[in-house]
This record gives sequence, structure tokens and C-alpha cells, in this order.
Amino acid sequence: MRMAQIGIIGLGVMGANIARNFASKGIVTSVYNRSSEKTDALLQEHGNEFLQGHANLADFLVSLEKPRKILLMVTAGAPVDAVLEALTSLLAPGDIVIDGGNSLFSDTQRRTAQLAKAGIHYIGMGISGGEEGALHGPSMMAGIGNELGQQGMASDMVLKELLEKATARDFTNGPCLGWFGGAGSGHYVKMIHNGIEYAIMELIAETYQLLRKAYQLSPDQIAQLFAQWQKGKLNSYLIDITAQVLAKKDDFGDGFLIDKIKDQAGQKGTGQWTVQDAFSRGIPVPSIVTAVEARQISSFRSIRVRLAQQYPFGKNNSIQLPPYEQLEDMLFSGIVLCYIQGLTLIATTAKEQSWHIDLSEVIRIWQGGCIIRATLLTNISNWLKNISAEQHLLEIPAVKEILLPYMSLWPEYLNMAMVCHVPLMGYQASYQYLLAMTEEQCSANLIQGLRDFFGAHTYERLDKEGIFHTVWE
Ligand code: 6PG
Repeated sequence: MRMAQIGIIGLGVMGANIARNFASKGIVTSVYNRSSEKTDALLQEHGNEFLQGHANLADFLVSLEKPRKILLMVTAGAPVDAVLEALTSLLAPGDIVIDGGNSLFSDTQRRTAQLAKAGIHYIGMGISGGEEGALHGPSMMAGIGNELGQQGMASDMVLKELLEKATARDFTNGPCLGWFGGAGSGHYVKMIHNGIEYAIMELIAETYQLLRKAYQLSPDQIAQLFAQWQKGKLNSYLIDITAQVLAKKDDFGDGFLIDKIKDQAGQKGTGQWTVQDAFSRGIPVPSIVTAVEARQISSFRSIRVRLAQQYPFGKNNSIQLPPYEQLEDMLFSGIVLCYIQGLTLIATTAKEQSWHIDLSEVIRIWQGGCIIRATLLTNISNWLKNISAEQHLLEIPAVKEILLPYMSLWPEYLNMAMVCHVPLMGYQASYQYLLAMTEEQCSANLIQGLRDFFGAHTYERLDKEGIFHTVWE
């Protein structure tokens, strides 16, 4: 049997598909799963000269070329620690373990330090693209946690070449593999990817709701609109699948499936982590915060249903509805704001953590394979080329060219939605973010006055240097 170039532990859907992906690229891949049924099933259906499996961990480890390269595809959290505990004593210095799950970046930092004591190199790598991406080419965000930063060690370079064969392609056919410098940086970039994913999905869902409730369009009419938008500047994976989800007929009965799906969104945690991290750094990401909150509110379904009876706002029929075609521009500018908030957070954290993360590289590797892939990312890559360290992303001329005209449309739609009683939490938060970020004189002077009044917290003045306190009474 040939020595395997890479080993995969964990054969859930993502792990099994990544294994098949590697094997299909001619990479000899060895797999192991705690319960051997999954290994047997995978080999029975897809086994070939490049894909081999082992029922026990020791055999699996023997099957790997040294230094070993082992990709963990297990559920984030305690299962990762459990696998590492079983694995570490069986590995040798120089071996590389890659965590391909959605692990919290601070867990990855802890594990990197822990495994380094045994000379084992640990790489946290976010993988985006779902089942299909894993099989045909995902976007991979690796954080190389050694002192050599972005370059990595010689064996990392061998790994990098293997991974590049399995990734999706960017718009110029380059591999969608981010090779970021710093322990935890890869999982951090993936976490923010998911935060942006949450925010964009919320704006899409609110657009659907507005078209449904205020404009009273049917799911297939809305599907057609999204399909049309997919041909223009909104072209992206999420818009594409929105059109498909809305057009899907119900297999169990009449009508559209969307009308039968319970309006209660799940979430596994990466959106919340993004928000918690942003709070801890003092970076505003209201579009992401609201997207998480909207999912939380959706989960109170039975209460919402009860309250709907108790607060019968009804529908205001007297309002003149503006043309819904312009919602394309509103959604597009909203998505631009989601990226701006997420990228600002990455840039801030990279600086704080001394990570090597080039934002245009982040955008490049999101061009293929991942959930937020979009044509817009070509523009964003260009915008980021000439930005200086002090410049806020909202100052980029091309961003202003989009936001200034398009954002002027928003108030009319936001007002209309309020009158029609359609909550647009994500849109509101995004609009208010821009409004607040561009307000020359904000109301924080009063906050400071109040803080000084009740707690002698002091304040600064606009006209004099120094710290001041007033005896207010
Ligand atoms: C991806 C996805 C994937 C998953 C997220 C979000 O990039 O492939 O982001 O990681 O869909 O975990 O899941 P929730 O919506 O359940 O939080």
C-alpha cells in the first residue's frame, strides 16, 4: 500500500467529501473515523487507489508519510480536544495537525501552544463551502501559527501545495487558500466570514419579507426577481440559491416549500462569536449583531405567534409603495456595508494580534468555493489595493461612489416598511451605522455630561486640552 500524503480524521459529510476531493486530485489520502462503519461505507462507495481507510488509529498513523499531515474534520469544541488527547502521544515532533472545523480561534491558539510543547505543528484552518464545496473545492483559511509567520516551515509548504490542489479557484484561477500568519488567524478569518454570511443572509431575508408582505408578491415572483438580480451586480452564490429556494415547490403538497418551512432560524455559534469578539475590541458591527438578534427573535416563535394577536398592527393600505426594482440597489449597498464592517474587524484584530493578514488576500480567497462568494469581490479586491493603514474603509472613493447614491434610496423604503409593519432590523442597523459613522457632531457630549454629573467620570473639551470635571449642582 502506498504511503498516504494526507490523513483525515472524522468522516462526517464534510470530512468524507474533503477526503474524496483530495483523492480525486491524485493525492493519496488515508482516513480514520471513531466508528469504522463510516470508513467502510466511504471506501465501499468511493474507495480507489488514492483513498484508503483504517479501522484503528495506530494503523492510520502508520499509513502516513512523515512528517505526518493530519486534517481533523470533527465537531468544534470538546470533540477536537478529545481527538487531540488521543493523538498527541502517538505523533512525532514535526508532524502537522490541521483543524478544519469551525473552532473558536482562541481555542486554536491554546491548542497551538499546547501541541508546540510536543514539537507538533498545529494549524487552524476554516473551510467554507458546505458539502458541495468540500467535494469540489472549498475556500480554505489557514492560520500558520509559527514564528516564521506567513512563510511557514518547509513541511508546511508541502502541505500548502496539497491543499491548493483541493481548493476552489479565484477569479484569476488561483487557489482559494489563505495562508495567514499567526495562531488562530485562519479560524478568525473564517469566523468573520460567517459573521458577514449571517448579515448578508439577514438582508436577503428581509428583502424577501418586504416583497412578500408589503408588495404581496408570490414566492415564484420573488424568485424570478432574485434570478434577474443574479445576472447583475448582485451576482453571488447566496442570491443564486435564494432564487432556487423560493422557486422550490413543496413535494408533500400544494404550493411552495418556503411557505411550509418553520420561521425559526438555527445557529451554531460563529455569528455570536463574531459579535462577542467585536464587542470585546470595541469595533461596531451592527449589521452582524442584528442578524444574530433577528435569528434569536425568530426562535421565540410561540411567543411571537401569541403577541401577534395581542398587537394587531394590521396593514396600512394607504401607503404608496415605491418601485420594488430599486431594492436591488438597496440590497447591494447593504451587502457592501456588511463587508466593510467585517473587514474592519479583521484589520483591527490582525493589528492587535500582530497577525499577517492581507485584506485583499482575504477577499481573493472568498472569490471561490465559500458561501459569500460574489462578483462584488473583484471590486473589493481593487478597492483594498490602494488603501493606507490610517484610512477607514468607508473612505475608499469607490465605496463612497456606491454608498452615496444608493443609500439615499433607503429612507423611503425603511419608512414604507415601518408603515407596513415589516421589521427590517438588518437594513435599519446598516443604515444607522452609516448615518452614525458620518455624523460630525454626535450626541456623546451629553453622555459625557451625564457621566460626569452622576459619577464624576470627567470629560474632555473641544476647545481646551486636559481632563475636566464640573460641580453640576
Ligand atoms: C460555510 C458555512 C458553514 C455553516 C456555518 C453557519 O462557510 O461553509 O459558514 O460553516 O453554514 O456554520 O452555520 P449556522 O448558520 O448554523 O450558524
